[in-house]
Amino acid sequence: MPYPALRLESQWEPAATPGGRFTFTLANFTGATLENFTLAYSSLTRTQKDHTCENATLKQVIANFHEYAPPPGTAIPDGEAWTFTVEGLNRPAKHITDGAKSAYVARADGSTLPVVVGDLVLRGAKATPPAPRLPEGRLDQPLFMLPWPNGVTISETRPAPVALYCAEGTNRAARAALHDIAALSDRLFPELATPFSLVPVEGGLPIAFGVDESLPEEGYRVEFGADGVALASSTDAGCRYALITLAQLIYGARADTARFAFPAAGTIEDAPRYGWRGSHLDVSRHFYPIADVARFIDILAWNKLNIFHWHLSDDEGWRLEIDAYPQLTDIGAKRGHAEALVPQLGSAAEPYGGYYTKNEVRDLIAHAAALNIEIVPEIDIPGHCTAVLKALPDLADGQEAPDSYHSVQGYPNNALNPAIEDTYTFLETVLGEIAELFPSDYIHIGGDEVADGSWLASPLAKGLMAREGLEGTFGLQAYLLGKVKTMLTARGKKMSGWDEVSHGGGVDPEGTLLMAWQKPENGVMLAEQGYEVVMTPGQAYYLDMVQAEAWLEPGASWAGTVPVEHSYTYEAAGEFPAELAGKLKGVQACIWTENLFNHGLFNRLVFPRLSAVAEAGWTHTSNKAWPRFAALAPLMPLL
Ligand code: ACM
Repeated sequence: MPYPALRLESQWEPAATPGGRFTFTLANFTGATLENFTLAYSSLTRTQKDHTCENATLKQVIANFHEYAPPPGTAIPDGEAWTFTVEGLNRPAKHITDGAKSAYVARADGSTLPVVVGDLVLRGAKATPPAPRLPEGRLDQPLFMLPWPNGVTISETRPAPVALYCAEGTNRAARAALHDIAALSDRLFPELATPFSLVPVEGGLPIAFGVDESLPEEGYRVEFGADGVALASSTDAGCRYALITLAQLIYGARADTARFAFPAAGTIEDAPRYGWRGSHLDVSRHFYPIADVARFIDILAWNKLNIFHWHLSDDEGWRLEIDAYPQLTDIGAKRGHAEALVPQLGSAAEPYGGYYTKNEVRDLIAHAAALNIEIVPEIDIPGHCTAVLKALPDLADGQEAPDSYHSVQGYPNNALNPAIEDTYTFLETVLGEIAELFPSDYIHIGGDEVADGSWLASPLAKGLMAREGLEGTFGLQAYLLGKVKTMLTARGKKMSGWDEVSHGGGVDPEGTLLMAWQKPENGVMLAEQGYEVVMTPGQAYYLDMVQAEAWLEPGASWAGTVPVEHSYTYEAAGEFPAELAGKLKGVQACIWTENLFNHGLFNRLVFPRLSAVAEAGWTHTSNKAWPRFAALAPLMPLL
């Protein structure tokens, strides 16, 4: 790629029109005059059909992708700039990440030039920086453990032992668990000595592994004495969590000797609050290479989370190898100037994307299983299917008017049509391959954000509605999802989905787990309808939301401002009446990546809120303590 010698600055200010005004300035440092070109950029704040532009003309908008032409005859000499303004935006900008994220110049000869994009500048008012996200914090005990265990009675501490090692006669299962958690610790903290050893170590302490059938699943007990550590559990998962606790204690005592030590006497007896302690990751909007995903799984394990919800498809890209449909990844995994999918969300003219091969997925499943993490794959249907429909255009009703409906993200006609027979062949085949590949109990099928009005201009859908007596978009959606439920049941899989799966009559709640994301009250409503529920409310657990009101704070804001303390103190159970409490399976963080297009942004938004959700999932209310969390969280690993 040529060195980028063009720069786009964007400013936003309030105006008479509701969404305010953008001012764009394209500066030329190429050493030559720039002419006969258009400017393309991607911005979550979108220009609507009804808009006004000064000194430019809007040529096209596809979701976040915008293309503008300068007035005919425009030439930008080297060192000069072209400025234009736009009003008619879909909403006011609130934060620096609300403007253009990527841009390029397209020339009349078909070539493109890269453009560097500045942050969105607030015009006419001072942009204040956000306050620190965590207070200094306070420790009552010199112990590093996060999530905090549910029973801690430690009476004495000492410096970290050189290592903890397997007592003589330790069985294979315990030795293998120790190997897995030692390897986890080494991957996360390669600069520190390995906490565990299979063989005795001078200056170390032995771990005596035992079984106690009275301990709960995933629970454990660790007793500390002068001569070593006694570890008990009733399951392999419990043994692994005990080892993670021990590894964390040693990590703290090595990483910050002034503040942390290792227990010399006392007991930790612990079990998690919820069985479903999840984190989702959207790899469609932004593609994370498999090594990043593996590291993310390590981080989940270190936080004692046990579900990785892998959001593998969306409008912006399909990310999983499917043998029967190579087009999905040949066409649907790439965005770019000359690609079927236009650039979006931080990607520009150069082809951007990627996908995971089945072999990579198998290795990742084994990696996660060694850390007691189940991978729940998500294929988001019937909405969010632009990438699918670009790859397999025959899945659309050719008689349906183009642009007959738009998703909330601005994608036209992006939902799989319930009235097309091939839709079901596609779903049978894809879900069949996924069910074979992933050993998880659940397959997540999305079900979110089908735009009201979808398919109503499709003659085939109208015919189906008349034949089956279906009402509107959500009657059609429920018809399609009912068939998907049958496909999953036939393969021994349970269905998971977002809360809108319940719309239009929903699906059989038996063996269906839905995620309440739009607002906390939806969780109770779903439980009343008989669904199992995982709480993922955007207002507390969407880690792409801004953490402060300040303009300079990055992130999305449609669900409000989500400070770390709110993610930490939010009590999902507080929403549920006692008679429905059994329907609440747990909690989950969601990481949507429209705004997280580099590691810096990812780390700033995801951490330490991920650990806040992890502690909410593991630690009972009475054992949570915000000052302790604030003291410990900065030592947790980043991506
Ligand atoms: C969602 O945030 N659309 C589930």
